[in-house]
Amino acid sequence: MSDDSRPSPPATPAAARTAAVIPAAGRGVRLGPGAPKALRALGGTPMLIHAVRAMAASRAVSLVVVVAPPDGAAEVKSLLDAHALPERTDFLVVPGGQTRQESVKLGLDALPPGYDIVLVHDAARPLVPVDTVDAVIEAVREGAPAVVPALPLADTVKQVEPAATPGEPEPVVATPERALLRAVQTPQGFDRATLVRAHETVTGEVTDDAGMVEQLGLTVVAVPGHEEAFKVTRPLDLVLAEAVLARRRLNDGF
Ligand code: C5P
Repeated sequence: MSDDSRPSPPATPAAARTAAVIPAAGRGVRLGPGAPKALRALGGTPMLIHAVRAMAASRAVSLVVVVAPPDGAAEVKSLLDAHALPERTDFLVVPGGQTRQESVKLGLDALPPGYDIVLVHDAARPLVPVDTVDAVIEAVREGAPAVVPALPLADTVKQVEPAATPGEPEPVVATPERALLRAVQTPQGFDRATLVRAHETVTGEVTDDAGMVEQLGLTVVAVPGHEEAFKVTRPLDLVLAEAVLARRRLNDGF
């Protein structure tokens, strides 16, 4: 059963100082042709609105910065205006960049002073439960400079020598011990100064923000993730997301 409807714990004074940055500027080509991924509907509501609500569901989050497709900031602003969002949370929309990393940096640049904890949450993970959001914030409050929600892997993972042509057989070069591996989700939580420093100093392609903090030589900690925090990447993920929403509606009905 989904636990997303439970209220998050009451905010401490420090709680008011948490902001969430939502990179939503990707095209989502793996999902097939159509609107930018974040604007596709799930249960009749754009995926981005679900993601914004998931962050705002935490009483600790008082600002959500949405990083929109570069040419879509006005459209995203009107979307946010058109959907009911908690009154206690402020919203900002900024245009994004060419890469996820660039988009997150643009979101961070737009953060007003006074927010000491920053969450970075993919618009493509619309269904993350509030308990997961709160667990990440709590671990940052307890002193971790960077926190990731993570799950053990169901599949064994192989490292390969990638083939020049997709679909060609690829030599396997290693099998990392599965018990030591985790699949990492968002929101990832950060001490703001640490994340800003990471984005200012780390160059090169990274696939998550915590990886940049690792490159600073700091310890990143993992807290339990949630199966409903999966990333909507391929068409089948949309089917799963609709099923999760349908189950929540059913459970909410009782
Ligand atoms: O492409 P991927 O699924 O890894 O994207 C993760 C998140 O980063 C998505 O929410 C997407 O909208 C966002 N993104 C972005 N700017 C880009 C590329 C991706 O905000 N240029």
